[in-house]
Amino acid sequence: MELKEKIDELKDYLSQYERLEQAIGIIYWDMRTNIPSKAGESRGKVLEYLSSEAFKMITSPKVGEFINDLTPYKDEMNKVEQRILQELEKNYNETKKIPQDRYVEYVGLCSNSEIAWEKAKDASDFEIFKPYLEKVVEFQKEFINYWGYKNNKYDTLLDKYELGLTTEKLDKIFSELKDGIIEVLNKVKGSKKKLNRDFLYGHFDEGKQKELSLFILEKIGFDMEAGRLDVSVHPFTTNFGNKDVRLTTNYHEDEFTSALFSTIHEGGHGIYEQNISDDLESTGLQQGASMAIHESQSRFYENILGRSKEFCSYLLPVAKEYFSDFKDVTLDEFYEAMNYVETSLIRTEADELTYGLHIIIRYEIEKELINGRITVNELKDTWNKKYKEYLGVEPKNDAEGILQDMHWSDGSFGYFPSYALGNLYGAQMFNTLLKEKPNVMEEVKNGNLTDITKWLNEKVHVHGAIYTPEELIKNITGEELNAKYFIDYLKNKYYSLYDVE
Ligand code: CO
Repeated sequence: MELKEKIDELKDYLSQYERLEQAIGIIYWDMRTNIPSKAGESRGKVLEYLSSEAFKMITSPKVGEFINDLTPYKDEMNKVEQRILQELEKNYNETKKIPQDRYVEYVGLCSNSEIAWEKAKDASDFEIFKPYLEKVVEFQKEFINYWGYKNNKYDTLLDKYELGLTTEKLDKIFSELKDGIIEVLNKVKGSKKKLNRDFLYGHFDEGKQKELSLFILEKIGFDMEAGRLDVSVHPFTTNFGNKDVRLTTNYHEDEFTSALFSTIHEGGHGIYEQNISDDLESTGLQQGASMAIHESQSRFYENILGRSKEFCSYLLPVAKEYFSDFKDVTLDEFYEAMNYVETSLIRTEADELTYGLHIIIRYEIEKELINGRITVNELKDTWNKKYKEYLGVEPKNDAEGILQDMHWSDGSFGYFPSYALGNLYGAQMFNTLLKEKPNVMEEVKNGNLTDITKWLNEKVHVHGAIYTPEELIKNITGEELNAKYFIDYLKNKYYSLYDVE
């Protein structure tokens, strides 16, 4: 059979699989945004059923046949076809190694575990969530045994989110990052200059915040005709193809920045998904290059752009139209408030400088947990100790400590490092952007982000998962990923903000 015919047949099969995945995705979205609390259990059963159908499709002997039939043609294939095959093989092998009954049980567990996490967080009681988390961790360990590992069990989980990433590589990058952050943080702490952000607290009507969020989303390039914005406990983005990209945010009426920056962050994820090429439909490649590359886009919009002086210069007059609280605030004051540094307890509310430390804490904990060097029982103490040691703060309750993130409830171990790597990828790309288009930030003052978004579209978004993260960053910047650009960026920005050098 000819290569083209075989590829078309595969695409046809993948399009059916994608439809099923989209149905599952809509149910997940609904569970996290709109579902009545009593409906959780029965919806979990719907998910169990559909997931087992998806499992059957991806582990079917038919997929094995596709792989066998296509492999001899590898050298004749173009880049896209090669990556389709590579991703298909990865997905097939990862899924096939798990016995179906274990997989179905795991999916059911995760949906109950998410509900338990929400209850536990509301009650600020880790004990409610603990039995579920114990089971989720046991499943992770069981899966790693099916998948196999070389040096470190945690490597197997890292590789799921960032192809080829290992604890060995990450230990090195994170130790450089940690040293860099601490160096800047110590100078900031020692500075005589104190920034003020009191005016960001007060009463900010939820309706007006929503209007502002929607306005800014469109401004940065998110297409509201191919997406929407809703509310959930933990903001997230999900999508069903590139024409239905759904973001969520979370409004706090006593504070100005939280919802706005959550929206911009999720908007960055959304812009990525909306701009992936239509040609990649039904190939398995119509998705981000990796979770960290995805985070590089969201964090680029949120921080590098959203918290830049140029963007603040555009945002302040707009914010004044919505909220009279900012009537007398100057640009310098606004910019300083947006970049106020404070070691704190909540990752998602952390400033750009100390954020990486929150991730390093989670990385170290996950590595120990997955390798069986600490138990779920010891988790809370370990967490609290590390927060004291790295950030000098201690949670007063579980909600602002161990229960703050939902990631462990659905088994996303290995995901957290993506956030910090996203910062590094983003800063490295920004460095190249400024070399290629030196005046690009000037336009941002006028609220014109077109050039930046276009550059990211061309360099990153349109390619979906055609390139691995390693290839992509090399194509764009000519270098491998390294922490240098992000640390330099932090130094430039925060030394000037805090008058230190
Ligand atoms: Co994100």
